[in-house]
Amino acid sequence: MSDDFDYARYDRIRPLRWTGGALDVLDQRKLPFATEYLTCRSSDEVAEAIHSLAVRGAPAIGIAAAWGVVLAGRALPAGDVDEAAAKLEPALKRLNAARPTAVNLAWALARMRGALARADGDWRRMLEDEAHAIDREDLAANRRMGALGAALIAPGSGVLTHCNTGSLATAGFGTALGVIRAGVAQGRIANVFAGETRPWLQGARLTVWELQQDGIDATLIADSAASHLMKTGQVQWVIVGADRICANGDVANKIGTYQLAIAARFHGVKFMVVAPASTVDMATASGELIHIEEREAGELHGIAGTRTVAEGIHAWNPVFDVTPHDLIDAIVTEKGVIGHPDEVSMRAAFGA
Ligand code: MRU
Repeated sequence: MSDDFDYARYDRIRPLRWTGGALDVLDQRKLPFATEYLTCRSSDEVAEAIHSLAVRGAPAIGIAAAWGVVLAGRALPAGDVDEAAAKLEPALKRLNAARPTAVNLAWALARMRGALARADGDWRRMLEDEAHAIDREDLAANRRMGALGAALIAPGSGVLTHCNTGSLATAGFGTALGVIRAGVAQGRIANVFAGETRPWLQGARLTVWELQQDGIDATLIADSAASHLMKTGQVQWVIVGADRICANGDVANKIGTYQLAIAARFHGVKFMVVAPASTVDMATASGELIHIEEREAGELHGIAGTRTVAEGIHAWNPVFDVTPHDLIDAIVTEKGVIGHPDEVSMRAAFGA
């Protein structure tokens, strides 16, 4: 993005704040009607904030986990780094187990382990520097992807997005929502539609609220209205984020993404995935190998704490799905755009 881009207008929200001794987490369970920060003073409190979705979105949970490692380090005496690394390992494992599908969590923990391995002297300071770097790099990647992704969109287009991929889900600006912010600012995007994203309602509770903070009008649709919307010709692109991108270009993302990709292909609507390189997992060959998180049936039994389903009804609640690479027109990362991704183009961009 050019330096004169108005980030102050188009990027106002931060989900995480490091206070110097604790991590303040904007509690996304309470949005949009309460803007409350939860203070995490230990790595286990961070793990719980990730598990309970107080902080969610692949890049944001990676960044939160990095700060969790910093907090675990602060609970240990300064001293021998090898001893500290061994003592930190259980806390890292608990952070890693908080949510299984988004690879950014394991990626951030690997970066923190690497920082510890390189550390000499003040290893606690080095952990803190690494967490700051992870946060800073994510924001820079999002701004770059905003420019790259928006350039693919013809002026006056309509777009549909899913889940929340904005500042709330990242260090700031967002992935898919960053492309939408940039596209709106450049006049390429005339209309934004957002799906509700049942059952947790990331689209209804978070995305349209986040866009409203920037003065961007968005139209909310029921998830089940997406195919009909495409048929009316009002959207030219579906733009989504990712929780894990495999070596063959298959993409795990919020449940419902796969059916949007199928509907988009049927209607001649283009499908764009926007995610930083930290979401790319070249060690996983294809989507079938991804562990899909399943959450409590209770998320389907009611809305906002009010039961809407008769007692005794079973529910199945997988919260991610996998979109096969051949339904994807473009994967945008900060390293560039991969058109029609497959194993060859992924390996060319990301190596082994
Ligand atoms: O369960 P969530 O809300 O953490 O799921 C989030 C998503 O699926 C996002 O689309 C993805 O993490 C990309 S966020 C930039």
